Amino acid sequence: KFEGLAMTPPMGWNSWNTFETNIDEKLVKETADIMVSSGMAAAGYNYIVLDDGWMTRERDANGNLVPDPKKFPGGMKSLVDYVHSKGLKFGLYNCAGTKTCGGYPGTRGYEYQDARFYAGLNIDFLKYDWCNTEGINSKEAYATMSNALKTAGKPIVFSLCEWGDTKPWEWGKPIGNLWRISGDISPCFDCEDKHEGNWSSWGFMKIAEMRKDIRKFSGPDHWNDFDMLEVGDGMTDTEDKTHFSLWSMLSSPLIAGNDLRKMSPETKQILTNKELIAINQDKLGIQAFQYSPEKNLDVWVKPLSDGNWAIAFINRSESSKNIVFDWKKNNLSDADFGFTADFNQKTYQIKDLWKNKNNGTTAKPFKENLAAHDVIVLRLTK
Ligand code: DGJ
Repeated sequence: KFEGLAMTPPMGWNSWNTFETNIDEKLVKETADIMVSSGMAAAGYNYIVLDDGWMTRERDANGNLVPDPKKFPGGMKSLVDYVHSKGLKFGLYNCAGTKTCGGYPGTRGYEYQDARFYAGLNIDFLKYDWCNTEGINSKEAYATMSNALKTAGKPIVFSLCEWGDTKPWEWGKPIGNLWRISGDISPCFDCEDKHEGNWSSWGFMKIAEMRKDIRKFSGPDHWNDFDMLEVGDGMTDTEDKTHFSLWSMLSSPLIAGNDLRKMSPETKQILTNKELIAINQDKLGIQAFQYSPEKNLDVWVKPLSDGNWAIAFINRSESSKNIVFDWKKNNLSDADFGFTADFNQKTYQIKDLWKNKNNGTTAKPFKENLAAHDVIVLRLTK
């Protein structure tokens, strides 16, 4: 892989969650425009990634991929140039199998040719999916594409999308800059959506929980990818806030999946919360661990640079809850990464990141009321 392209979790936008294969030039240009004018680019979102559906159904006579001329009449190269002219980066999608999940030409057997094609388009990011891969080995397939990109020479972030079945976190570090760790996300708090063909998509709390034990595999330039955000895709603003908090705590890539052209002021406020983004982008790059002293109250803890800590309380239940967290009885200890906060030895200042205000110190127990599905995220500073 190209080393060093993703020292903090990548931030951007991907077409799939809202548009699936209904994508075109106009959508990309308008999204790029609004990414800049809305302040999202200034907040750190810089990748615009086209997911499945950008190609024609067949390769051309020379075996090259063909961007669909009906969807992209101006051609893909000029679209990439347009996105670059806005100060943003551009990503495309393909698949390790014979066809993509949507039935478009997959890359299997064309790895070096497709890598040259992407380098020629001057793209910056490639998401590489895992449909129609019967009989092939995941590590080999992803390593082949990684080598092909390297050989083509244009630095491209390589985003593995294998869904976790063959544990990409165990072999992905030299191959890719990020890897999906689960099946697809659904815009819901804690659900499992069962689909025809015996696969499920998952609410954000479920995805977080199912992969809480692989945190030591994630870090700068090799991220566990908890999937694209569903903020602004139909959950309540409270749930969106909790989802965004959790992805920030988990050091997951922050790839928005909503229609930026139609986002509400609340959605925009959530996606551009500077304090939360700073937690996500913290240079230590440590994925939070789960620390749950109480039923239905999820507590997630993330060591930060400069001896700071972030701690998030999530009310999993369907009614409001009074939280009491007595710091002195709850020293924080991260055994995987070797950090501890001893509240009997040191007192920390507390800042509530959604309220954007200071809230006392760790000398006294923290007390708040938390609505159903709501979140509090605190930054502790020495
Ligand atoms: C499955 C992936 O997990 C999704 O994120 C999306 O890329 C679709 N495939 C596209 O077909």
